[in-house]
Amino acid sequence: MKAAQISRYSKTLEVKINSIDIPSITSTQVLIKTKVADVDPHLVLAITGKVKIFDRYNFPLTLGNQLAGVVIEVGTGVMDFKVGDHVYTMPPLDKMGAFAEYVAVDAAIVAKMPTNLSFKEAAAVPLSALTIIQALAILDVRQGGKLFIPGGTGGFGQMAVPYAKSQGLFVTVSGSGSARDMANQLGADEFIDYETQDYTHILRGYDYVIDTRGASEISKQMKILKPGGKLLSLSAGPNARFANRSADLSTAKKILFSLLGLPFDGLAKWHKKSYDFLYVQPNGQQLAAFTQYLEKTNIKPVIDSEYTFDQVNAAIAKIATGYCEGKVLLNVEDGGY
Ligand SMILES: NC(=O)c1ccc[n+]([C@@H]2O[C@H](COP(=O)([O-])OP(=O)(O)OC[C@H]3O[C@@H](n4cnc5c(N)ncnc54)[C@H](OP(=O)(O)O)[C@@H]3O)[C@@H](O)[C@H]2O)c1
Repeated sequence: MKAAQISRYSKTLEVKINSIDIPSITSTQVLIKTKVADVDPHLVLAITGKVKIFDRYNFPLTLGNQLAGVVIEVGTGVMDFKVGDHVYTMPPLDKMGAFAEYVAVDAAIVAKMPTNLSFKEAAAVPLSALTIIQALAILDVRQGGKLFIPGGTGGFGQMAVPYAKSQGLFVTVSGSGSARDMANQLGADEFIDYETQDYTHILRGYDYVIDTRGASEISKQMKILKPGGKLLSLSAGPNARFANRSADLSTAKKILFSLLGLPFDGLAKWHKKSYDFLYVQPNGQQLAAFTQYLEKTNIKPVIDSEYTFDQVNAAIAKIATGYCEGKVLLNVEDGGY
């Protein structure tokens, strides 16, 4: 089968399509024939080695964090899926593997696709869906709380904003001026145009921030939180709270993450607020709950662009620009979506 792989870290983001064996499954796994995979910003970090502290890959590594496809084989111990089911999944970030014609994954991290979504739309959902579910759980949000998501009109925001609204939150996002309409469509209560407005002069008394912008923005984001407010970053870096929550980390990693997080934790303490970090985890139950939510609300991801499997390098180059109006897709199966 064809698989888009890297054999080492590289700054040039060069990916090769190799011919490899179709994986065999264990008793707890399903084999999925991939229709469409999604190309997300984490891939750029993975290829350039920027998430080495979290994930040490076995090379050659088949890339790809999320996919939609059809179950073609089921392990003897799998009860929840059958051959022919339309499913979607986010494989573990340290294994990836979605950019391949066939993918073997544990059934526990797979969910049936929403019946109202095409394979293309479904492929764009799992990573963002799991991120917002896990983020709101860590923040332990309460109804009526105010949430700011800088960069919340991107791929993550498309799922995060309507879902956060459905949990009773007041949601503000920032984006470039051209993303204002998108923010309105997503149901955001307030929009900040980062090209012309400084949110630190406008937003006050927020309960929560979900940071997508990284370390350089943390200090500014702290200012808009009220005392006791909580900042959860997706991009800045890990800390002690994150380390303590991650049960399977070695002691050395826990110490490392705690030390790396000292500047953020110190800043948070100074402001009488809290800092935390999320590195999203696969979860079939959470994804199945999101399937029900999408079927009920008919929310669909917006697609920025599509590429054929052979154009995988162009697709990754596009996501690396950081300017996408929606999701970037890789049509792994020609015409089969
Ligand atoms: N740790 C985790 O588990 C986890 C999970 C999910 C996502 N993430 C990370 O979260 C980040 C966002 O993911 P994504 O999928 O939403 O990326 P994306 O689709 O590329 O969206 C990024 C958004 O940021 C906006 N942006 C650019 N410059 C900005 C600025 N100065 N201020 C505010 N917004 C700005 C862009 O808006 P315009 O196009 O309008 O300029 C764009 O819509 C990525 O770094 C990703 O790796 C991490």
